[in-house]
Amino acid sequence: MSTFFTPHAKDAIPVTPLTGEELESWLQTQDAHVQNFVKAQDFTAAPHSKILIPDAQGTTERVLVGVDESDLLYRFAGIGKSLPTGTYTIDANMNEHEATQAAIGWALGQYEFDKYLDKKSKTPNLLVTPKNAQMTEVESTINAMTMVRDLVNIPANDMGPSALQKAAEKLAKDFNGKSTTIIGDDLLKENYPLVHAVGRASDDPPRLVDITWGDENAPKVTLVGKGVTFDTGGLNIKPGAPMSLMKKDMGGAAHVLGLARMIMENNLPVRLRVLVPIAENSISGNAFRPSDVIPSRKGISVEIENTDAEGRLILADALTEACTENPDLLIDFATLTGAARVALGPDVPPFFTDDETLAKEFLAAGEKQQDPVWQLPLWKEYRDMLSSTVADICHTGAGGQAGAITAALFLQSFVDDTITWAHIDTWAWRKSNRPGRPQGGDAIGMRAAYDVIKSRYKPKP
Ligand code: BES
Ligand code: ZN
Ligand code: ZN
Repeated sequence: MSTFFTPHAKDAIPVTPLTGEELESWLQTQDAHVQNFVKAQDFTAAPHSKILIPDAQGTTERVLVGVDESDLLYRFAGIGKSLPTGTYTIDANMNEHEATQAAIGWALGQYEFDKYLDKKSKTPNLLVTPKNAQMTEVESTINAMTMVRDLVNIPANDMGPSALQKAAEKLAKDFNGKSTTIIGDDLLKENYPLVHAVGRASDDPPRLVDITWGDENAPKVTLVGKGVTFDTGGLNIKPGAPMSLMKKDMGGAAHVLGLARMIMENNLPVRLRVLVPIAENSISGNAFRPSDVIPSRKGISVEIENTDAEGRLILADALTEACTENPDLLIDFATLTGAARVALGPDVPPFFTDDETLAKEFLAAGEKQQDPVWQLPLWKEYRDMLSSTVADICHTGAGGQAGAITAALFLQSFVDDTITWAHIDTWAWRKSNRPGRPQGGDAIGMRAAYDVIKSRYKPKP
């Protein structure tokens, strides 16, 4: 049974979407009581506005919703939550894409993080399953988005390294995938020195979760996600305000787990591998330090310039491992740099790839799914900014400019250049409440990535 949808149309209240231009001609087709009521309420069909039209008994007969023509995803997202408890049905002809987006938006708008609240949220309003909607995709998208939001919203005292490991392993188990995890000092034995260094100061030891799923002989898609369950900055401690949001620093891990969920739930014909390096960037006597030189899984030595640039370190070892299988496609997600936000703001994650075909697919997918992403260059000449006099590479760029690009270039030095790879530097967070995008943790760029993967590896009919 779905939480948001019902096949039963009986007694469902119709919801009619109208643009400002359409309102007048629609009113012409209506009885005088509807015309008078709508006019008396000054309803102009502004996007996300609504009006409940009563019948002669005062019962709601119909809801009008103002919509923006270009917004397919969020047009019903705000009203789903604000309407009185009931069952609603969309009164419009929609093609498959429109119906699918409308249904996803209906559910996304009703998300609430009530885990710690005594007073739980009300049960969601139901929508009659829109004709033409691709419901497997709708349900899998909602499940993945909800999972990402919950994982990011749960604070670090309940979402430390071991809890994140459990969440990843549960996902693998739910879809009959396999998982193995390397924990604590075993990371040194198994040659993940950077993951170990970043996470060793925490009482909850660092780890690497490795999930595989699907037919061994299918094309290999590998996902890697930054799982820093809390980023204090380490010895280069963050000031109070920037630290306050750092429970979300496992957002990359949440994104790849959500993406994996969509791939598995839609049964895409791929052999999936998900590598999640997990660490809490803590402060203690054994914390790694600025100026330390640490070996990496790849064999090159890394000079630590700033312990707050920890994400790229744990990703480096995981990306090195990812490349050993020579995957057909390698994608990583990470809440990697503040510089990415300075460049593009919170809503548009930059992605980096040297594969121009993949870049075009990402841009188009972002637009189609209303999950925009924007390409930034892996500008080769900036590699010099990562040079070190004491090690093979320094993990931060000199000069403090192009921070998102130098972070991506650092990652690239751990990825074989024969592999099709994209890195997405996401924020995983919404600062304010908007319809369908509630304040708090969110998946940003994940639906675009899924669209790319689905188009490359079409599900079997
Ligand atoms: N987790 C942060 C990046 C971040 C900060 C993401 C704020 C979203 C919002 C990352 O580990 C970090 O601190 N990066 C530093 C790198 C710097 C020390 C080179 C940054 O971006 O300031
Ligand atoms: Zn940091
Ligand atoms: Zn971080």
